[in-house]
This record gives sequence, structure tokens and C-alpha cells, in this order.
Amino acid sequence: MNKTAIFFGPEKGAVNRVADMIRHLIGTDKVDLIPVKSATAADFVAYDQIIFGISTVGKETWDGKPAASDWGKFLPQVSQGDFKGKTVAIYGLGDHITYANSFVDFMGLLARELKKAEALIVGQVAVDDYEFEESAAIFDGKFIGLPLDEDFEPELTPERVKKWIQQLGKDFIF
Ligand SMILES: Cc1cc2nc3c(=O)[nH]c(=O)nc-3n(C[C@H](O)[C@H](O)[C@H](O)COP(=O)(O)O)c2cc1C
Repeated sequence: MNKTAIFFGPEKGAVNRVADMIRHLIGTDKVDLIPVKSATAADFVAYDQIIFGISTVGKETWDGKPAASDWGKFLPQVSQGDFKGKTVAIYGLGDHITYANSFVDFMGLLARELKKAEALIVGQVAVDDYEFEESAAIFDGKFIGLPLDEDFEPELTPERVKKWIQQLGKDFIF
């Protein structure tokens, strides 16, 4: 069986909620949830299919450098990962109203680390369905992963997630 891992952080917030949602959509026995807080690059080895869940919080203080957050500690591990033969996808929590100029920026930060490690990133999403000013998560005109806003449009989350999982089905084996 092809197990999918969801490496996510932080715990207990919106990212965690969506990780649970995705796990139930794919099937609880087919998905391992792995908090990035206690993970290392060695934990990638067991999986050929990996979904990363990240939120953009405190961009102004983090400034693209690791800080004392779950992802701050884990991000350097990502570029050390061996992603040969693996397929990865990213979802990112953000707030398109308050932070319209840095909407889901950390998806972009994470994608750059994954690209350094030559990971194959699938699950790109068209920008048309979102309102925002600027985002560092856009590569070649598309969001590198799935943006979600649980602060201002939580009612859109279930459908967005469902559609995205269907889309991932082209590259992931569930
Ligand atoms: C201090 C702070 C800074 C934030 N900065 C951004 C930002 O730059 N861009 C964005 O899209 N969302 C930003 N957000 C919104 C969060 O990403 C959003 O609330 C998300 O759902 C948090 O998920 P979590 O609780 O799982 O971390 C920020 C939230 C806080 C509290």
C-alpha cells in the first residue's frame, strides 16, 4: 500500500485541522500525520508521497530565516531530504484580508527548500479563485500548492480541499 505522510505544523491550529480533514478524505489507514516539531529528514525515507502543511505566521519577524517555531526548526531539514522517486505537495494556511501583501508566503519559502532538494512538487493551483495583492507562493503564474484561509473564508475550505485531493490523485496513488 502506498502510504501518504502529512508533515504539518504547528499543531492544534488551522493547519492541524486541515491535516485531519485530508486524512479522512484519503482514508485514515492510508495516511500518517507527522508533526514537523519532532521530525527530521530521516522521516521522509519511509514515504513516496508526502504532503506538507504550513501556515504563514510572523513573516515580519521571521524574515525568511528559521525562528523558534515548529517550521523554523524543521525547514533546514527539508533541503537535506532525499526526494528521489518521491512526489510532494503543499497546502498553506493564510489570511487574504489582513495579510493580502504576503498571502501564504511560507508556502513559497518551503517550496524553495524543496526545490533545492530537487523534489517533484505537484498540486499547483490557479490564482484566479483567490483575492490577494501579493504572494511569494506563486511560481510560473500559479500557487505552488493549495492556499486556504480559515480566518476569512472557512466555508470554502472543504470544497477546496476535496477538489485538490482529486487533483493530487493524478500523481499520488491513494
Ligand atoms: C502574527 C501573525 C502573522 C500572520 N502573517 C500572515 C502572513 O504574512 N500571510 C498570511 O497569509 N497569513 C498570515 N497570518 C494568518 C495565519 O496564517 C492564519 O491565521 C492561519 O490560519 C494560522 O494557522 P495555524 O493556527 O495553524 O498556524 C498571520 C497570523 C498571525 C497571528
